[in-house]
Amino acid sequence: MKQLNAVPTTNQKLVAWVNEWAAICKPDAIYWCDGSKEEYDRLCNEMVESGLAVRLNPEKRPNSLLFRSDPSDVARVEARTFIASETKEAAGPTNNWIDPKELKKTMLGLYDGCMKGRTMYVIPFSMGPVGSPIAKIGVEITDSAYVVINMEVMTRVGTKVLEVLGDGEFVPCVHSVGKPLAEGESDNGVWPCAPIEKKYIAQFPETREIWSFGSGYGGNALLGKKCLALRIATVQARDEGWLAEHMLILKLTNPQGEGKYVTGAFPSACGKTNLAMLIPTLPGWKVETVGDDISWMKFDDEGHLRAINPEAGFFGVAPGTSMKSNKNAMLSCAKDTIFTNVALTDDGDVWWEGIGYDAPAHLIDWKGNDWTPDTVDADGKPVKAAHPNARFTAKANNCPAIAAEWEDPAGVPIAAFLFGGRRPSTLPLVYQSKNWEHGVFIGSTVGSEVTAAALDVKAGTVRRDPFAMLPFCGYNMGDYFKHWLEIGKAGEAKGNLPKIFCVNWFRKSPEGKFMWPGFGDNSRVLAWVFDRCNNAGEYQETAIGTLPTVDAINLEGLEGEVSKEDLAELLKVDKEGWKNELEMIKEHYKKFEGHLPAELEAQLKELEARLA
Ligand code: GTP
Ligand code: SPV
Ligand code: MN
Repeated sequence: MKQLNAVPTTNQKLVAWVNEWAAICKPDAIYWCDGSKEEYDRLCNEMVESGLAVRLNPEKRPNSLLFRSDPSDVARVEARTFIASETKEAAGPTNNWIDPKELKKTMLGLYDGCMKGRTMYVIPFSMGPVGSPIAKIGVEITDSAYVVINMEVMTRVGTKVLEVLGDGEFVPCVHSVGKPLAEGESDNGVWPCAPIEKKYIAQFPETREIWSFGSGYGGNALLGKKCLALRIATVQARDEGWLAEHMLILKLTNPQGEGKYVTGAFPSACGKTNLAMLIPTLPGWKVETVGDDISWMKFDDEGHLRAINPEAGFFGVAPGTSMKSNKNAMLSCAKDTIFTNVALTDDGDVWWEGIGYDAPAHLIDWKGNDWTPDTVDADGKPVKAAHPNARFTAKANNCPAIAAEWEDPAGVPIAAFLFGGRRPSTLPLVYQSKNWEHGVFIGSTVGSEVTAAALDVKAGTVRRDPFAMLPFCGYNMGDYFKHWLEIGKAGEAKGNLPKIFCVNWFRKSPEGKFMWPGFGDNSRVLAWVFDRCNNAGEYQETAIGTLPTVDAINLEGLEGEVSKEDLAELLKVDKEGWKNELEMIKEHYKKFEGHLPAELEAQLKELEARLA
């Protein structure tokens, strides 16, 4: 086994762990990543030369690559994701569970020799600003250079992390694409991965370990993101009294120059990146980005929950992103970007559905096939040029709207939490919870139409996704609800707890059209949220919570069409719809028997009584 460079640490535990896994995976060589630009460029060039990546036209997309994954490896695989805690009960009813001993045995069998013919990269990374008291250090070993370059955009990688680590503790993260190469064999430009039944995305909560096998895509492979910053971090947060959440963080400034920080938890592909980078259409208001996917929050001495974004980049959904819907995301990926599964234009640029202009006459689609606007599949249905879960990996610092304080190690004080999902009916545009417990009830019942961000759930149906954390909570979800209630109790005394709101940008008319223009016009809802945080804004108390009056949503300068009647419809309590909703919530809550906090059962009863 070749050592491609000197071991850059004296951390004995780390060195021993790397050696142990090298002996199991049997790579040809070991390489310690330093996080330098030279290293990033070199790995990019190697992948372009080997045919795994296409370098985009530097005049159109400077310093950017396009990757096409295997058609089977295009999103997170929830059915192959496991919380391997000591007991099944600890993992709870919403997670897949395998006994950790059994799972380790199975996976060790798969890892045996899995890196033959490849280099094992060692990636020391920090989630959160290097050295911040809230930050955590992980080390990922992987046989994928694609993973290395993505980690170098999404996290802080390299020598400086090892310096801060010293002899300290790190979260060990093992990753392999699960495709060893025979003597003389190469990938030949084909994205390596293992078949679905050999894919495992495993978290071991008690020992704080992550083992991932068989996939090279996104949250399956970039282990700092969903595996560490959510699944493992939720367990640490429970034990240590803080919150690790699937939330964007934004700074909202009103026309008077007063700023507030707001987070939002929406399920995957339900609008976090878009809201985080929103350009208000409401005159005088400003939004700046702190984070677009994950928020870690701890109480400060004044009882404010202070949030940091543990990531350093965006792994954003490409389709639907345009200069009109999300200009700041478009500018973030104008250069220095890794694109995965978008279409390639003949002049070396990218294209996707909803990019804001028509497809050119010819493209190479995400599968590498020739594509024209009239390309259809065997059933005569139009073929998409980009995969619906195609993504861009871009540096947060390339976002024109990034807030100056986005890397503040102390975090930013949160004024409001938003919960929401894609709900074509029943759920109003926005309402405020009556209090913290009611807010936790709202979070625990978040539902959404299914999207393309996970492979194995049926699109189009409504699924309950509590706190947008269904695939990301590292322990029993019922206990997680309890943790949220306890955070409320801990914060109550100081009186600085964030206010909790529910939003829904996705109401549809009977004809199936979105009733609310969304995107930049969501600033109109944010403005009401802002005012409510100051105990201002026109409102009405209703059975479900505090709603804005129709006049409380400022429609000044609105581009799209929203009539007063439509707005009234968006802001009404649909009693029949809510009765149906109650039944669905009861069904949902049944799952948590034995772990459902009494407070939430009481909230459900009270809602039922108010709706009667
Ligand atoms: P993950 O990265 O998977 O966690 O997704 P996300 O929550 O960041 O979702 P994102 O902002 O990337 O949006 C996903 C899709 O929802 C895109 O196709 C957007 O165009 C669409 N979308 C976002 N905001 C709105 C909105 O206000 N209205 C409508 N109609 N669509 C929206
Ligand atoms: C999500 O699915 O919520 C994402 C993309 O943010 S991934 O990194 O693949 O989890
Ligand atoms: Mn996400």
